[in-house]
Amino acid sequence: MKQNHSRTLGLLLVGTLCVAVPSRSAFAQAASARLSIQLDKPLHPVSPMLYGLMTEEINYSYDGGVYAEMVRNRTFQDHGFGGLAHWNLDNKGDARGTIVYDGTEGPSAALPGSMLFEISKADASNLAGVRNEGYWGMALQPDTTYKGSLYAKADSDDFGPLVVSLVNDNTGAELATASISKTATTWKRYEFTLKTGKISPSSTNHLLISASHSGKLWLNLISLFPPTYKNRDNGNRPDIMELLAGMHPKFLRLPGGNYLEGDQIDERFDWKTNIGPLVDRPTHRGPWNYQSSDGMGLLEFLEWTEDLKIEPVLAVFAGYALKGDHIHPGPALAPYVEDALDEIEFVAGDTSTKWGSVRAKLGHPAAFPLHYVEVGNEDWFDRSGSYEGRYAQFYKAIKAKYPKLEIIATAPLKHMKPDVLDDHYYKRADEFFSFVNHYDSADRNGPKIFIGEWATREGAPTTNLGAALGDAAWMTAMERNSDLIIMASYAPLFVNVNPGGMQWESDLIGYDAARAYGSPGYYAQCLFSEDLGTSVPTSSITNAGDRLFYSVTNDAAKGLVYLKLVNAASHVQTIDVSLSGAGSVAHSASLVTLSGKTTAETNSISDPRRIVPVKSSIQAGDTFSHTMPPYSIQVIVVEAK
Ligand code: AHR
Repeated sequence: MKQNHSRTLGLLLVGTLCVAVPSRSAFAQAASARLSIQLDKPLHPVSPMLYGLMTEEINYSYDGGVYAEMVRNRTFQDHGFGGLAHWNLDNKGDARGTIVYDGTEGPSAALPGSMLFEISKADASNLAGVRNEGYWGMALQPDTTYKGSLYAKADSDDFGPLVVSLVNDNTGAELATASISKTATTWKRYEFTLKTGKISPSSTNHLLISASHSGKLWLNLISLFPPTYKNRDNGNRPDIMELLAGMHPKFLRLPGGNYLEGDQIDERFDWKTNIGPLVDRPTHRGPWNYQSSDGMGLLEFLEWTEDLKIEPVLAVFAGYALKGDHIHPGPALAPYVEDALDEIEFVAGDTSTKWGSVRAKLGHPAAFPLHYVEVGNEDWFDRSGSYEGRYAQFYKAIKAKYPKLEIIATAPLKHMKPDVLDDHYYKRADEFFSFVNHYDSADRNGPKIFIGEWATREGAPTTNLGAALGDAAWMTAMERNSDLIIMASYAPLFVNVNPGGMQWESDLIGYDAARAYGSPGYYAQCLFSEDLGTSVPTSSITNAGDRLFYSVTNDAAKGLVYLKLVNAASHVQTIDVSLSGAGSVAHSASLVTLSGKTTAETNSISDPRRIVPVKSSIQAGDTFSHTMPPYSIQVIVVEAK
């Protein structure tokens, strides 16, 4: 070790990793902790479903987020500007055209209105136009094909052509153009493709629809998609999906959160209104104060799980809305229970069932794997005391038809034991540090625990290194208690970092139209879920300060031990590790480190990889001494057979 007695940083060589750490003169070094691991004394298996995902429509998670649609307010259901928010006139030269929402003309019963574009003057060199600004811009890449479609109806049969183009906001350059030769006098769907050439990537672009003909034109469901993850129609953004794949999740809890419930009962996630063609989806207002396009409907959620090779944890609406309305258990609740049974059948029924065959007609004959159904969300907020009765009614009906499903309760019950209880924790890092023993002595005869929402809330829009330390400390506790805690999912997962994009501070993954990045906490989760054993062996630690946390799991079949260490202190921490009960222990081990200089240090859209895991190796063996940098999360993988 090279020592420097000034108040500058010293250098500590940890294996092949060169980590900058404060010199001893700057911070007192804690005495060594002693960690003893007995591999021949397994305590309990690790839940194979431990780490998963939870999302909902918050912070522009789907619209303007993972759902790749580029046109904002494509069906004119958003509030503001009489339904025409994010649309503007763009008449060139002498052209004259106006736009207004016309509630009497629409392409479907679900979309009974449309945008009326009334053109009083236009010709080939004076185009009347209307443009969409996208979700804080439209990200364009060179040599890329964008697939578009729109519904239109004209007031005369010689209306045309319609020119659709992608235009740079700053230069006016047309980056891709397509033309729809004629629009009929009845509602019809038109498809177009926009292909860029050798352009520079940018997101300062808009979609422009122009006409050279005077008359009336009604437009609706104007949609444009970039290439999507696994080339799904109506699919997801590849960059965000790849970040999710990097978390090695096992499930997706869907569709919320508050978003499941809605502020009012008629604003719940009403799954039957968001399956099938987009034109048949009326859209709905979510509880986070914006309209959901419902492009991310139930089948899209399920295909998302399929693309990540994970399973859905399906939350069903349970008769309680956020602002306090509830349905009494009994006959009034029965239609909602039926709806949940239908929903389960849509997810997991085979094609001989009514809803399984609907799913097949929508293009997905194969049933999705389903083991967990959650009844409601955070029903401890229901002061009417109706939850126990509501849960029991859902439980009885679901178990009668699907005895193997595990039914998750969202609030403690007095008179029955649910299969699983969903606990939520939002805390500061320090609160998590003193909470890590919460489940150590919890009743093992009670319900299994699902931590369906948890997060260390420090930093915005995405969380900082201090939060990652809180998260990692909490994950050590969840792993240690993974006989009881069978699943856990962080929330909220997503935030659009543009102004107005965030309704909830402290999120895990941030993005704008073109870029996406993970917070330090994102990387902590990747590390913890990637290196997870199948069993928790007996272990004990002495002399550890109150800012040192660890978890050890092992996989006997692979002969690997996964040691997770969290040093949340501002000084280095040495740990003397002893591994017993294995035939042989390798002399070197892999090490991954996530660390930073202060707890406020963070990643951002403009500095996305400031704090990322760094791989190296260290000396190992039956006993070894390891020194952790300040503010660090480390995973050591040792071969022990
Ligand atoms: O994650 C944000 C919100 O927190 C969820 O919608 C809700 O379930 C919880 O209160």
